[in-house]
Amino acid sequence: MATSGGGAPSLHDLAATIVLVGAGKMGSAMLDGWIGLGLDPARVAVIEPQPSPELMALAARGLRLNPDRHALRDPAVIVIAVKPQVAAEVVPAAAPLVGPSSVVVSIMAGQRLAALERALPGGTAAIRTMPNTPAAIGRGITVAVANAHVSAPQRELAGRLLAAIGTVEWVADEALLDAVTAVSGSGPAYVFLLAETLARAGAAAGLPADLAGRLARATVAGSGELLHRSPLEAATLRRNVTSPGGTTEAALAVLMGKDGLGPVMQQAVAAATRRSRELAG
Ligand SMILES: NC(=O)c1ccc[n+]([C@@H]2O[C@H](COP(=O)([O-])OP(=O)(O)OC[C@H]3O[C@@H](n4cnc5c(N)ncnc54)[C@H](OP(=O)(O)O)[C@@H]3O)[C@@H](O)[C@H]2O)c1
Repeated sequence: MATSGGGAPSLHDLAATIVLVGAGKMGSAMLDGWIGLGLDPARVAVIEPQPSPELMALAARGLRLNPDRHALRDPAVIVIAVKPQVAAEVVPAAAPLVGPSSVVVSIMAGQRLAALERALPGGTAAIRTMPNTPAAIGRGITVAVANAHVSAPQRELAGRLLAAIGTVEWVADEALLDAVTAVSGSGPAYVFLLAETLARAGAAAGLPADLAGRLARATVAGSGELLHRSPLEAATLRRNVTSPGGTTEAALAVLMGKDGLGPVMQQAVAAATRRSRELAG
């Protein structure tokens, strides 16, 4: 079960109806976040072909699971959390639910606002977002971009719902979403790779592989938590553990060298940005 976003405002008082289309990894993380922040399950309707036991339990507490779509007209928010591969089927199927007060929030990677708008009634308020996997523990970061039809209260409501899975950043320029995808969307994989490669390097330096794995995992997780809790910049935290002439400095001379992590990360992010543009067509 996900925990709710740290510091996110309570959803106890939310009277709006929310429809969640797709309760897989991301959709469930959002739903868990909302319930964790006090949202009444009766406020939520979920459309999900393969409901999990957790979803069934919420249905017993009033959540509407796969209700008749005619009972769902004009909800305040429709969150679309299915894989982009089924967008062509799912978005037009959700279109009849959209009413004058609805805002559609998509978390589908690579689905542009223009594509959403084409599949929805003219003038629909729509928000495209890019969350990331730490959403599962309420510690994600989501970047959101709204179309011209989104009102200030709709933006505020969508922001409250997204805050249940972590931090929310709004941008005005949708073109930034490709680079956002490359940094925060795909970024957790780069950090996991760091843990993997640090463990392998530890084993190569003579440590038993299981010990190297535990050291690398705890180091990445603990440093991430320190970064999260500290007001200091990452570069300052790095300098604070680097004594002149010491072991860390010896390693950083390699990692920060001409062929070090900087240029490699830049190439990696550029490759992911290009791929995001290609996938969005
Ligand atoms: N996971 C990430 O790191 C991440 C990060 C950023 C953005 N996203 C985006 O988030 C979206 C969801 O990803 P996910 O990892 O949560 O995928 P997921 O676990 O596969 O969840 C998608 C869910 O939607 C359900 N579904 C399929 N067809 C449906 C339909 N016609 N109506 C209603 N529900 C339907 C799926 O059910 P079945 O299992 O029966 O197909 C599944 O439970 C994707 O667009 C992805 O690009 C994911």
